[in-house]
Amino acid sequence: MTTELTRRDWLVGGATVAGSMLVSKMVSAQTVPNPNLNPTPENPIRAGFNENVYGPSLKAKKVMDKAAETAHLYNFFEQRTLNQVISKMEGIPGSHIAIGNGSTPFLEKAAMACAIKGGKVLAPDPTYQSVTGTAKMLGVEVVSVPVGDDLHIDLNAMRSAMTDDIKLVYLCNPNNPIPSIIEKNALKDFCLEMSKRALVVIDEAYFEYVNNPDFQSMKDLVVDNKNIIICRTASKIHGFAGVRIGFAFAHPETMRYIAGPFNLSLGNVAVAGAIESYQDIEYQSIIKQKNRESMDILEKMFEDLNLEYVKSNTNFAFFNAGRPSTEVAEELRKHGIWSGRPFPPFTNWVRMSTVKPEEMQYVADTYRKVFG
Ligand SMILES: Cc1ncc(COP(=O)(O)O)c(C=O)c1O
Repeated sequence: MTTELTRRDWLVGGATVAGSMLVSKMVSAQTVPNPNLNPTPENPIRAGFNENVYGPSLKAKKVMDKAAETAHLYNFFEQRTLNQVISKMEGIPGSHIAIGNGSTPFLEKAAMACAIKGGKVLAPDPTYQSVTGTAKMLGVEVVSVPVGDDLHIDLNAMRSAMTDDIKLVYLCNPNNPIPSIIEKNALKDFCLEMSKRALVVIDEAYFEYVNNPDFQSMKDLVVDNKNIIICRTASKIHGFAGVRIGFAFAHPETMRYIAGPFNLSLGNVAVAGAIESYQDIEYQSIIKQKNRESMDILEKMFEDLNLEYVKSNTNFAFFNAGRPSTEVAEELRKHGIWSGRPFPPFTNWVRMSTVKPEEMQYVADTYRKVFG
């Protein structure tokens, strides 16, 4: 065993005992492999919600504990600091960044803006349903364009479905529940073209997990273009799903659709934690590596069992179980595993989120035993 760890060993855990102990310390005490892993229906492995099961980084947790002391104060100054951190990191002017209680408020407000304008929404199908669901609740018609045979979002089909009464175009990249991406050049052309006719919202909730040269964030387009909004969230790689922080990148003139004149809706704990978490690059690398390890376990299971699946660019997999996903979910639940909900029309496909590698191994072993 080498005693001198390289920086890479340290970040990814390497194969050494010392390496994995360091990584365990970085993520949390819970990451130590647990030989007695015994999930139950009451205490399940949560592979159904695309969360980061490690939770926030220890550095973020530390400042969040402290932030409770300022519970009686508004956090305008801290919001400014967070804005500056994101602005520097993303190369987007601070005037083009709004902070939200997650990204959901921005997605919902975009749908509301569309309702107020009296237009329709154009979206792929299946996709994440915050925009389309809100639109439908408000009586807005949603024009849904099925994904192509390759299960990728079909931009040409969306182009063909575009009409003058569509006021909002929603794209999720990478998509959810299908973890595919849209090729960067095709997407840029599409955004520029559609933004001449409607507001374009690109939801990049999972962008941190992407390791694919064909992917590119569309964030730079918002600097000049008044009809493009990018949504981001701390709920995924940062483990903030229950803390709540998200961002919208948009031209200042476009902000009126999705943000108020001042922001009183953010909690001090969330803002303080996000300032720390976004600067904790090492933690994000570790989570990405752990995600890869878990995805490898799932993909090996798909290959061994000859199950069709979509190469993932996110923290979840999507595979054809060859039987109703409801049946799979019900069986897995008995073994203490939660998988994703059904995604019609892909009723035989299962969405499975990554969890810690040792938990993922349990999921794969259980799946083989029950369905293999
Ligand atoms: C694509 C996508 N966008 C947005 C969200 C919601 O994010 P937030 O927790 O920031 O509201 C999710 C949650 O799963 C998601 O999958």
